[in-house]
Amino acid sequence: MGPSSPSLRFVLLAAGLAIASGLVARTAASASGGVRSHVVALARKVKKATKPAKKGGGFGARANGFGKRPPAMPTIKLNTGADVPLLAFGTYRTGGAMLRQALEHAIASGYRHFDTASCYENEAVLGAAIRASQVPREEFFITTKLWCTDHGTERTRRAVEASLKELGTYIDLYLIHGPWQLDVEKSAEEISELRRQSWLVMEDLYHAGTLKAIGVSNFEPRHIDDILDAGSVTPALNQVERHAYLTQAELHEYCSAHGIQLAAYGSVGAKGLLEDPIVRDIAQAHGRTPAQVSLKYSMQSGIVVLAKSITEKRIAKNSKLFDFELTKDDLARLDALDCGQRSYWDNSDVP
Ligand SMILES: NC(=O)c1ccc[n+]([C@@H]2O[C@H](COP(=O)([O-])OP(=O)(O)OC[C@H]3O[C@@H](n4cnc5c(N)ncnc54)[C@H](OP(=O)(O)O)[C@@H]3O)[C@@H](O)[C@H]2O)c1
Repeated sequence: MGPSSPSLRFVLLAAGLAIASGLVARTAASASGGVRSHVVALARKVKKATKPAKKGGGFGARANGFGKRPPAMPTIKLNTGADVPLLAFGTYRTGGAMLRQALEHAIASGYRHFDTASCYENEAVLGAAIRASQVPREEFFITTKLWCTDHGTERTRRAVEASLKELGTYIDLYLIHGPWQLDVEKSAEEISELRRQSWLVMEDLYHAGTLKAIGVSNFEPRHIDDILDAGSVTPALNQVERHAYLTQAELHEYCSAHGIQLAAYGSVGAKGLLEDPIVRDIAQAHGRTPAQVSLKYSMQSGIVVLAKSITEKRIAKNSKLFDFELTKDDLARLDALDCGQRSYWDNSDVP
């Protein structure tokens, strides 16, 4: 079985998730005053930086019912100069007809940023949905990722080619899915060396225009330092688990200081978060759902947020984040929920 075999990748993904869930930990962590003021400054920056995406027609407009165009999705600038929509539609743990339908609803609701990965095995479904939408390709922003068995020079080249083929279109943002390599026992030096090789290939492909932007996911500052030492391109974005139970204040500060956009997953799926009395109380006060409050919490701190749903009503509701603002007091109450709870990967041990 080759390293890029779908079944092996599935096993590794499952193994990784098992490891991650086994490592779920509640560690004390709270934002310092310095971080808080930094976040307030960022919130101001995002207010200024956001602007409506270009308008388009086609399926996105027609499928919205009564011929109405869905509301434009605000964007923020990456260090490449590209505009990335602040809200992304996640596609993890879904595929086939179910995903096709969810993507139709998402495009009709105005989502233009879609997140996939080679290990999700649904890049082809996403590419087809985008073509079927008749919305101009340049209105979309597609993120996909290099899986952990594909680190190294040649494997990375092949993985990018495979993703391009599956998607049937160009890639706006290509991420190293995580700092880890789960397939074989390797020394810390080997892990770092292969990760560096991947990054250098991604830099070449970025300079060649094959990849419009490159970045990382689940990287701690030391993993980013490692590739910064090896290469010459600063990652455009770091996609990590981030929500009120895991505010990642230090990582956020590090990324902001280096011009790296943070993106947050797990805002809806984090264990217990939507049932939290504080989240529910804030939601009630604004006449919103707990999911909307959780997504808005990160977005209002200048963070790109991801939300996945296969449920039509949730897809639509999760996208309605741009006509309300959380108050300073709301943000402080949500900040105070930080307890370091992870529902996904814990990379503290990854060299
Ligand atoms: N880089 C990484 O390692 C990594 C890791 C995890 C995720 N991601 C990306 O981030 C995306 C989001 O993460 P995720 O899919 O794990 O979790 P999520 O978006 O935080 O949560 C998804 C779950 O929440 C439910 N949900 C959605 N909207 C809801 C609402 N309004 N009220 C109640 N429940 C709601 C969904 O159910 P239904 O679908 O049944 O509606 C689904 O079970 C992924 O799809 C993927 O693209 C990346």
